[in-house]
Amino acid sequence: PSGELLDALGRPLRDLRISVTDRCNFRCSYCMPREVFDNQHRFLPHADLLSFEEITRLARIFVAHGVRKLRLTGGEPLLRKNIESLIEQLAQLRTPDGQPLDLTLTTNASLLQRKARSLKAAGLKRITISLDALDDAVFKRMNDADFPVADVLAGIDAAEAAGLGPIKINTVVKRGSNEHQIVPLVRHFRGRPVALRFIEYMDVGCSNGWRMDEVLPSAAARQLIEAELPLLPLPASATGETAERWGHAGPDGRHDPALGEVGFISSVTQAFCRDCNRARLSTEGKVYLCLFATQGYDLRALLRGGVSEADLAAAIAAIWQPRSERYSELRASLAAQARSADAKSGQRIEMSYIGG
Ligand code: GTP
Ligand code: 5AD
Ligand code: SF4
Ligand code: SF4
Repeated sequence: PSGELLDALGRPLRDLRISVTDRCNFRCSYCMPREVFDNQHRFLPHADLLSFEEITRLARIFVAHGVRKLRLTGGEPLLRKNIESLIEQLAQLRTPDGQPLDLTLTTNASLLQRKARSLKAAGLKRITISLDALDDAVFKRMNDADFPVADVLAGIDAAEAAGLGPIKINTVVKRGSNEHQIVPLVRHFRGRPVALRFIEYMDVGCSNGWRMDEVLPSAAARQLIEAELPLLPLPASATGETAERWGHAGPDGRHDPALGEVGFISSVTQAFCRDCNRARLSTEGKVYLCLFATQGYDLRALLRGGVSEADLAAAIAAIWQPRSERYSELRASLAAQARSADAKSGQRIEMSYIGG
């Protein structure tokens, strides 16, 4: 394959997010609530997962179609056995003009102290860590797995020490649960080369019981911060970027990059579908064209049926080209009733299955 692959809305394919496991050792209420993901829940059997060779074969073709960033997700990607070996294979891939890819991973950091160095050695470029609170009790309530915040903070330090920076931190804000953690988190990370991003709680999947009144709009989050610390708007660093970026002012009132940055990911109040260049590959090898998709396109059947390289590339192009998904833009105009009927129909994929 060659040339620019565009979808029906003119959007190129740049970012491939690869889910390597549907399991997680946390039970965040907004993602894998314990009532739903209990010991009755059936996770995918190992034979259903794409092998590392299968993932790498697909990633190579996506790269030929324009992908420049690979993100490993889950569930919790560090739970996949020998994930370093997949990273080694993906780190070998090159763009058509010979450049290495932006290779990153989103983790809850529970295994990061142990793994930061081996991930770096395998070729991981950078890392994003989920952290919803600084207060231990609040954090434990959010992860619902009794996991202490001190271990995440130690994981962040380990990642920085291993050279996996600049680190990004993702905080999902759920009104009534952790909005009072916003300012303490900003204060804690101000002064470090870290991008702290606040994410509006989204109606992904159909098990988190999402309600609009539990969304704290980013504008309100920013007001909370600015009441105490001034923020300066920063230009977007890439098209289709999820976060709107803000910097900290130094003593002279000017932007000081060394102080880190704060971002807002506002999928609910300010959709960013217009430039969405992300495709998602599920643990079992289905391509999803949107986080809110109800249907994926099975590539595993093709892979295991002995498809040729050219046919596989053509199949992926044929999936991307007609794409017109833009759920977050449409959400605003969908009646609440229709939204919840959609979620309750049990169709929409879960975040733990497809990754952030
Ligand atoms: P970098 O900034 O390059 O590190 O990537 P990113 O912002 O794409 O990364 P990340 O996976 O950290 O995304 C952060 C969060 O934004 C995710 O956990 C989701 O909550 C949300 N998000 C990411 N991509 C999308 C998307 O395509 N649509 C929507 N609605 N939300 C998204
Ligand atoms: N809304 C917003 N972000 C979510 N994540 C998971 N579920 C949700 C949701 N309902 C994000 C978290 C985590 C990443 C794996 O997915 O930010 O960092
Ligand atoms: Fe696990 Fe991340 Fe989902 Fe929390 S948000 S349950 S850590 S996959
Ligand atoms: Fe992309 Fe769908 Fe998210 Fe819009 S809602 S930004 S189309 S993944």
